[in-house]
Amino acid sequence: MSNLQSSETESLPTEGTAVEETPVIMEKPQTKPAGSPSIKFLKEDKEVVAASGANLRLRALENGIDLYTFMGKMMNCGGYGQCGTCVIEVVEGMENLSPRTDVENRKLKKKPDNYRLACQTLVNGPVTVNTKP
Ligand code: FES
Repeated sequence: MSNLQSSETESLPTEGTAVEETPVIMEKPQTKPAGSPSIKFLKEDKEVVAASGANLRLRALENGIDLYTFMGKMMNCGGYGQCGTCVIEVVEGMENLSPRTDVENRKLKKKPDNYRLACQTLVNGPVTVNTKP
């Protein structure tokens, strides 16, 4: 009996004994995505959301954004990268777009690097564009 009592008293913390602290486990902060895909049309003062990988031309047309000049309206290729009339200027977020395609490189040879064909461009994050530059 005395054996049991002594083992119980040994396991109890005595006054003044440092109590081991339970380590606080910090939750790893969620890494924020670069931003959900959206297209801001500066001239029209309109911002539309897009699914990742959305076609810029289609999102523009679906939201009533006029991509084409008069000639473009009359004779655009319907999004096949053949006419070059859906050209836009990327003001911000170039890194959030799919890379320029071969068709664009040919059609936009003499244009600045931030010009894209909307029909060949996929949106993966927030971008700001100017239509009919
Ligand atoms: S619609 Fe013709 S090149 Fe884009």
